[in-house]
Amino acid sequence: MKTFVFVVFSATLCLIAIAFFFSPHAVNAVRGQREQTNYDESNVPPYTLPDPLVTSGGERVVDARTWIGKRRPEILKLFETHVYGRSPGRPNQLKFEVTSTDPNALGGKATRKQVSVLFAGGKDGPKAELLVYFPNGAQKPVPAFLGLNFYGNHTIHSDPGITLSKQWMRTNENMAVVNHRATEASRGKSSGRWAVEKILARGYALATVYYGDLDPDYDDGFQNGVHPLFYGEGQTRPAADEWGSIAAWAWGLSRVMDYFETDADIDHTKVAVMGHSRLGKTSLWAGARDPRFALVISNNSGCGGAALNRRRFGETVAAINRAFPHWFCANFNKYNGHEDALPVDQHMLIALIAPRPAYVASAAEDRWADPRGEFLSLKHADPVYRLFGKEGLTAEEMPDLNRPVGTTLGYHVRSGGHNVTDYDWERYLDFADRHLKKAR
Ligand code: GCU
Repeated sequence: MKTFVFVVFSATLCLIAIAFFFSPHAVNAVRGQREQTNYDESNVPPYTLPDPLVTSGGERVVDARTWIGKRRPEILKLFETHVYGRSPGRPNQLKFEVTSTDPNALGGKATRKQVSVLFAGGKDGPKAELLVYFPNGAQKPVPAFLGLNFYGNHTIHSDPGITLSKQWMRTNENMAVVNHRATEASRGKSSGRWAVEKILARGYALATVYYGDLDPDYDDGFQNGVHPLFYGEGQTRPAADEWGSIAAWAWGLSRVMDYFETDADIDHTKVAVMGHSRLGKTSLWAGARDPRFALVISNNSGCGGAALNRRRFGETVAAINRAFPHWFCANFNKYNGHEDALPVDQHMLIALIAPRPAYVASAAEDRWADPRGEFLSLKHADPVYRLFGKEGLTAEEMPDLNRPVGTTLGYHVRSGGHNVTDYDWERYLDFADRHLKKAR
């Protein structure tokens, strides 16, 4: 009897221990031991940002020529070496194949074109499937918005003519992704985040690619996606200063721009690159690297995007590298808990876009992404815009909710949480009208 009581007692203790281990409380406790997430403005540590306008040699940059010729390349190199990693250029074998065109899509409002972007020149190699909607009746060539999507092109609209993605994607019941594959029921599941009809009605084309076509979003040591296409003899993964997944996604956006340069219906000098969250980090890096993007939009991009690392508010460098070890280059790990040692901060990423217009949008409840840190990045990029005689962002303080501010640098903090809403798109359309349409 004694033994029986002892066994039951021990088994119960074990069950309690297992239940505790898997409870959210325990997960938070373990996380907490590693690092507390700070959501308290008064706990933001004092910090000094690197000055975008002082060269590594200590010379003050006072004109646009020195910025373009000297300081900008220095900063770009620092981001490549320490944050996102170096990317290759355009592959020689790159080919485009238009796979379908329908001039009567969306009830006649649009022409739908689908294009395979063949990175190694053939269908068997890595490729991205591009979807473009052109507004019917608009004067050609048209300006365009380009953005990557999270679950396949077929999720941005219920249009049955969009090819269903065959790629690996994260299993997700809400997206009707079963066993890592999209199903017919996935169609239109993200349409709330893509104001397709609004964008077309304002005279813009909308182009999108599934980000997993470029690199599936999980840590597999860079064996799938586009990385292996560029490995040298005997190389099995990127070097410590070579591209992670964000840089690969951004590289893919530049390949779409290569395609736009061949499509007479798109005005490739008026392309806005837009992304949400991890894809907002991606649109900023794409726009920073590739000056062919005329306008850059970051929607709730947070850590590794628009938010200042040194504030350590919400998600931190250590937290992002731990949860997503494949997003940045290996060197970025050196700054886990050592943000002040970074030779750059994210205001310099925005500065790389100058003098082109950039828009950063935050959401009030998205504290993980540090709305204030996103605003401050823009603010601290303003002096670089001034070199070009451009007014960046005059607002000294964060604006009230749903009150867009800025001139060449635009900003708003929307009420609500981490998402892309019609409110956000309306602001991007207004901003694009001001900057892209005025020269027409
Ligand atoms: C996580 C991650 C963020 C990222 C977001 C997303 O929350 O920590 O950095 O922006 O996912 O991409 O949805």
